[in-house]
Amino acid sequence: MYKALVLGNSGQLASSLRDIMNGAIFASRTGPVKIDLLNVDAIFERLSSINPDVVINAAGFTSVDKCELEKKNAYSVNGLSVREIARYCRGKKIPLIHISTDYVFDGKEGNYTEESVPNPINFYGLSKLVGDTFALSYDSSLLVRTSGVFGSSKNFPIFVLEKLSRNEKVLVLEGYYSPIFSDFLARAVLQLIGLDYKGIINVAGERISRIDLAEVIADKFGLDRSLLIPSEGKLNLAARRPYDSSLDITKAKRVLKFDFYSTRTNLEEFYNQVNKGKQY
Ligand SMILES: NC(=O)c1ccc[n+]([C@@H]2O[C@H](COP(=O)([O-])OP(=O)(O)OC[C@H]3O[C@@H](n4cnc5c(N)ncnc54)[C@H](OP(=O)(O)O)[C@@H]3O)[C@@H](O)[C@H]2O)c1
Repeated sequence: MYKALVLGNSGQLASSLRDIMNGAIFASRTGPVKIDLLNVDAIFERLSSINPDVVINAAGFTSVDKCELEKKNAYSVNGLSVREIARYCRGKKIPLIHISTDYVFDGKEGNYTEESVPNPINFYGLSKLVGDTFALSYDSSLLVRTSGVFGSSKNFPIFVLEKLSRNEKVLVLEGYYSPIFSDFLARAVLQLIGLDYKGIINVAGERISRIDLAEVIADKFGLDRSLLIPSEGKLNLAARRPYDSSLDITKAKRVLKFDFYSTRTNLEEFYNQVNKGKQY
């Protein structure tokens, strides 16, 4: 039995991994095992003391707007920390699984493949791209690029549901992405580890616009879809968003043995959680 270390604890993907990974160690600032990825110089030593056989980096500074305002911290957590993690994994010759984002792309084209050239338009994307580069400098790493993760904490489907349930208007950002339920992403990550998959792979849902997704959710819960309003630049966000950051998932569809991608299946899981009264 190998000793797996997941970086992340209460995060969406980390929580989904916990549900299916018995015996794994979860480390973050709030985790049962402590590690602070802001403290870049201490990471190598922390990893050495934990002494894992595989590292899944599910941690990240994921607030896109905060990254724009706190660039130094974003650069440490999303970028420099991955240098130390990759350095440790290379030294010990153990697999590194790193999670990347559709926001490394500029969103001008959409349907980005594993070979597409990144061109981030915000600091979150740039800092993640730095992390990706460090991860990929180690040839035993797996880079899972994903989009619009929704699971246990604040995310777009929950935001829409909460606002519409209160009969409040929702300004919805225009554009497309490839949202995926975090339990599916977690299951995909474990399957890829089992297959000893290396290099970049896109694991995400089907391409959909945020407004279409919001309308499907509104209809499902019998809520008023006329409260969904295209934002038309009125959101005043600190960071620019790529218009179409959808990912081409042809490769993952070939490799993975379950339907991780269809909008219908992803939303059914979301509805199940809501109906079970899962606390967010
Ligand atoms: N959310 C999305 O829509 C999305 C889209 C594309 C890609 N991704 C990528 O997918 C991965 C997982 O995303 P997620 O949605 O699960 O993220 P999340 O819910 O925001 O969780 C982030 C995790 O990172 C940990 N973390 C943050 N700062 C840290 C620090 N200084 N030291 C140690 N740990 C720290 C948090 O630890 P605590 O548990 O202690 O708070 C948390 O577990 C990330 O790499 C993200 O960039 C996410």
